[in-house]
Amino acid sequence: MPVTVVVGMQWGDEGKGKIVDMIADKADVIARYQGGANAGHTVVVGKEEYVLHLIPSGVLRNGKICIIGPGVVVDPEALLSEIDGLEKRGVTVKGSLLVSNRAHLIMPYHKLLDRAAESRLSGSKIGTTGRGIGPAYADKAARIGLRVGDLFKPEYFRERLGQALEQKNALLKTLYGEPAADEKEIFEKYMAYAGRMKDYADDCGPILRKAVADGKNVLAEGAQGSMLDIDHGTYPFVTSSPAAAGGACTGLGLPPRAINEVLGVMKAYTTRVGEGPFPTELLDATGERLRKTGGEYGATTGRPRRCGWLDAVVGRFAVDVNGVTGIALTKLDVLDEFDTISICTEYEIDGKRYDQLPEDTDALTRVKPVYETHPGWKTSTAGISIYANLPDAAKRYVARVEELVGARVSVVSTGQDRSATIIRS
Ligand code: GDP
Ligand code: IMO
Ligand code: MG
Repeated sequence: MPVTVVVGMQWGDEGKGKIVDMIADKADVIARYQGGANAGHTVVVGKEEYVLHLIPSGVLRNGKICIIGPGVVVDPEALLSEIDGLEKRGVTVKGSLLVSNRAHLIMPYHKLLDRAAESRLSGSKIGTTGRGIGPAYADKAARIGLRVGDLFKPEYFRERLGQALEQKNALLKTLYGEPAADEKEIFEKYMAYAGRMKDYADDCGPILRKAVADGKNVLAEGAQGSMLDIDHGTYPFVTSSPAAAGGACTGLGLPPRAINEVLGVMKAYTTRVGEGPFPTELLDATGERLRKTGGEYGATTGRPRRCGWLDAVVGRFAVDVNGVTGIALTKLDVLDEFDTISICTEYEIDGKRYDQLPEDTDALTRVKPVYETHPGWKTSTAGISIYANLPDAAKRYVARVEELVGARVSVVSTGQDRSATIIRS
């Protein structure tokens, strides 16, 4: 380590949760840096499956400090129910989890506005998770947000809530024809959350910086993926936070020079949930087979994920924009029974070839992917944990991915369980 960012290299759901849980045994601190309960990070430990939305995936390892950083948007209702769900299953959260006082709160009107805005977009929906993420980050930028620390200053909280509701209720009533949100009801609800949130709220920036200064191993866990990053993704079909590795600095309050490694998590094929361009999407039986074999249904919303072959143009971009020092290539086992496996090496757009990602999102809807096709290995790699034991065709696939995207594959994942992991370095 000591400070490693784990970042999604595609459109999310690359298997970040599994990888963070896997390497968290060597970490002291695991911190989420952006996003909110739109994330769904699945971790499988033996027969138990956990889906984490806000709590870092290190929580399943005992004795670690887990931090929800200033850059995250926190829905207290979602967080407290996630804590309860874990505690009920015997996972200790109290004493391990800290939530930044600086993190912004998701308010009930954020969720209402998220859904109302989506339903009005009709033909150009983003396909959001409906968790209030966009409206909460918009309020943060507009400086009318409420933060975790505000929960403990009731008079201040009430005043800020009143100011925000003036705007929100005008929007809800006039633009969306929805009933106004009730100030008293929200205030009482959030004051009740405050009682429990007190156990977790802290000033997390200094804690993180001290951990770095003391040479502790810190894992910064990203949510979503580089292609969903607000600045670098397929705007406007993105989430509203800095999902790429740079977000770890702003979202945790760590200086850029503190980051030592960036582990990019990349699925051996590609998926996307929600709307927006997806150059290698397969709308045929092969896409359906990837979905079935890979169990590609959203961990947060249950929506079927769109599936396609690996896109090396996207991979190359993600290596560059994140400064990836090693790739964790996940779900290799999903490709086990395919006769042939394709990789998109370049794009053809309006008759012109591109080996780098074009910045124009609209151009991405006109991509004809240029594929190279590799023979499948037609044998099970499920559970393999030693690189040498992979079939030769799988090793050639991994080597070709490294060559095409320009970074070393340092971890290969061959199943959901912790043990189904090859660590190469
Ligand atoms: P995240 O959002 O990036 O954490 O990814 P998700 O948890 O939403 O989706 C990844 C899914 O793939 C989860 O159900 C994981 O348990 C599963 N998974 C992760 N790695 C592997 C792997 O190597 N093989 C298989 N078959 N499943 C995997
Ligand atoms: P993890 O962390 C995949 C997608 C939504 C939608 C867009 C905007 O599990 O990888 P939002 O609710 O964030 O405003 O929705 O982003 N999206 C994700 N897709 N994995 C995720 O998280 C996602 N979080 C948001 O589907 O297209
Ligand atoms: Mg997910």
